[in-house]
Amino acid sequence: MDTTAPIGVFDSGVGGLTVAREIMRQVPNERIVYFGDTARVPYGSKSKDTIIKYSRQIIRFLQTEKVKAIVIACNTATALALNEMQKEFDIPIIGVVQPGVVAATQTTKNGRIGLIGTESTIHSGMYPKLIEEIMPQAQVIGKACPLFCPLVEEGMINDTITTQVAERYLSELKKQQIDTLIMGCTHYPLLQDTIAQVMGEGITLVNPAYETALELKQLLERENLANVCEIDSPSSMYRFYVSDTAEKFKKIASFILPFDITMTQQIAIEQF
Ligand code: DGL
Repeated sequence: MDTTAPIGVFDSGVGGLTVAREIMRQVPNERIVYFGDTARVPYGSKSKDTIIKYSRQIIRFLQTEKVKAIVIACNTATALALNEMQKEFDIPIIGVVQPGVVAATQTTKNGRIGLIGTESTIHSGMYPKLIEEIMPQAQVIGKACPLFCPLVEEGMINDTITTQVAERYLSELKKQQIDTLIMGCTHYPLLQDTIAQVMGEGITLVNPAYETALELKQLLERENLANVCEIDSPSSMYRFYVSDTAEKFKKIASFILPFDITMTQQIAIEQF
């Protein structure tokens, strides 16, 4: 395997850039090919069969870019499709759920863990299942927060409406004596300050995006896949593809990434 080959990172849209951003920080030597399925977002309300079909098409596309490993940056796609994709494809594929689970079990003192995510992630039961494998006595209290993604995409990150929505969604969780809360959706780390403020003191927030980047780093070292060559500028290190027009993607990307995306190419993903 060519160690200078890129890492494939994909998500239902722009949110997975929170994962790409952490990867850029943790493994700055690695090239990235990012795919955002902007034509078919949101994944968070779709069925398992649909998400498996979408993930398969995206991985086939990423393989044409000769990626050496794949990160499913989307919590929903990880929860619904990671196991199937790992069986189908002969390339290292990791998702964002397991790294978040490990961090949460290491963080909690009282074994009461809150989980917020999309409807599909919460209903999949994947987070509680994996937590139970590591910590059978743990209690996981889940809450879907479907309005968080559109609020972030509208740029309403520091907005009183977002605080009100967070208060409404999180009020039940606040009564559950959790000491750890997993932000189980790509967009939620962008609302970290609001979520932390609403939850109050004594609750540690777990960001699966950060944990996933650390896991990727370990995977690359373990499999002898890490790029040891000289690095270039972001414009040549990172390539961005979308399935719909690029304008909104670029706009939101500009407040997630530390540089402006100049080139984004649209792909007919249904053909893969
Ligand atoms: N990327 C999705 C996730 O992390 C959130 C957006 C969507 O529903 O597609 O679950």
